Amino acid sequence: MRYVRMPIEIESPEQMGYDNVKFNLTESSFRDAVLGDLDLDLSKLVLCYGDHLGLKPLRELLAKEYGVKADDVLLTVGAAHALFLISTSFLEKGDRLLVERPNYATNIETPRAIGAAIDFYELTFEDGYRLDVEKFAAMIRPETKLVSVTTPHNPTGVVLPEADLRKLVEITGKKGVTLLVDETYRDMAFGKPTPFAATLGRHVISVCSLSKTYGLPGIRLGWLVSTDPKRMETLLAAKEQSVIAGSVVDETIALEYLKTRAKHFPAIQAKIREHHRILEAFYAEEKRLERVPTEGGVVSFPRIRKDAGVDVEKFYECLNGKYRTFVGPGHWFEQERRSMRIGFGWPTTEELRGGLANLSKALGEAKA
Ligand SMILES: Cc1ncc(COP(=O)(O)O)c(C=O)c1O
Repeated sequence: MRYVRMPIEIESPEQMGYDNVKFNLTESSFRDAVLGDLDLDLSKLVLCYGDHLGLKPLRELLAKEYGVKADDVLLTVGAAHALFLISTSFLEKGDRLLVERPNYATNIETPRAIGAAIDFYELTFEDGYRLDVEKFAAMIRPETKLVSVTTPHNPTGVVLPEADLRKLVEITGKKGVTLLVDETYRDMAFGKPTPFAATLGRHVISVCSLSKTYGLPGIRLGWLVSTDPKRMETLLAAKEQSVIAGSVVDETIALEYLKTRAKHFPAIQAKIREHHRILEAFYAEEKRLERVPTEGGVVSFPRIRKDAGVDVEKFYECLNGKYRTFVGPGHWFEQERRSMRIGFGWPTTEELRGGLANLSKALGEAKA
């Protein structure tokens, strides 16, 4: 493995220091929950090594939701760990991966660290960041070991329609390739969520976590689902060799949270809808930006129009330096810096409005 730190992590607000950031529009999650608000008593919890697959009642609860068996669910240290386990289990140096770009950086960087040969399907603004499944599938080669998609997508917020997902499952199944579907934003789809991908085929692995929709990234609780015992055995071995078992504290908090999810979820959904409306109203006014509509999640990936008369580097200098406002610049996703990810679920409503107003000010001040 050749590990290289990713810009999205080096430049993340938690690494730069939250004190330097006044308006944080960089996050891809809902606002962080506070432990005290969850009303939990963990005082009797035995701090043992847990079940290596993960806390059984939590796996049972998730399995019921997916319509699979508890042993088809492997708890991981966030979705990031699930992605790591999948890449290291099914890719070796020189193996081919087919993946979309832009993407959540780890979906690309871990295969790169392994030394996999990567075929990129370039999603473009002009195509509405849509994946053309026929074209995508045509890129699968005989040597392709893993195909990877993210839906709802990060950083664009675009959703892969159910018919396309089913088609992709069918094609990869016929070709005998493992299909990874990163569904970390699934619960935040604006429309009816697509079926859990892992339930559509034995060769499909679903990945999700509690980080994004529920604002719980600090408990590092994710999972992967596969109905193929052979793949699961390998993935469990990878988990045992990396962390043995997950944190019983995190798993217990996750279980208790999910048992009462119905109490929290409507307020989360309402806030996301409200913030999305604010963002859309901003785009309607801010003609120097163009965007593809978000269909799920709490991120949007607009770009500065080429003819807007804006100097992109001056824009970031002004936005970050003068207005202490931060977005996820395009290079976090191996894209031009005139594209940027705006996270609209994490800031308070006031911070979102303030941050967006600062964006307009910086666009106006950064004359080319
Ligand atoms: C698409 C996607 N997958 C996985 C992750 C990892 O999230 P976590 O490890 O916090 O669950 C992220 C985080 O941004 C993401 O955007």
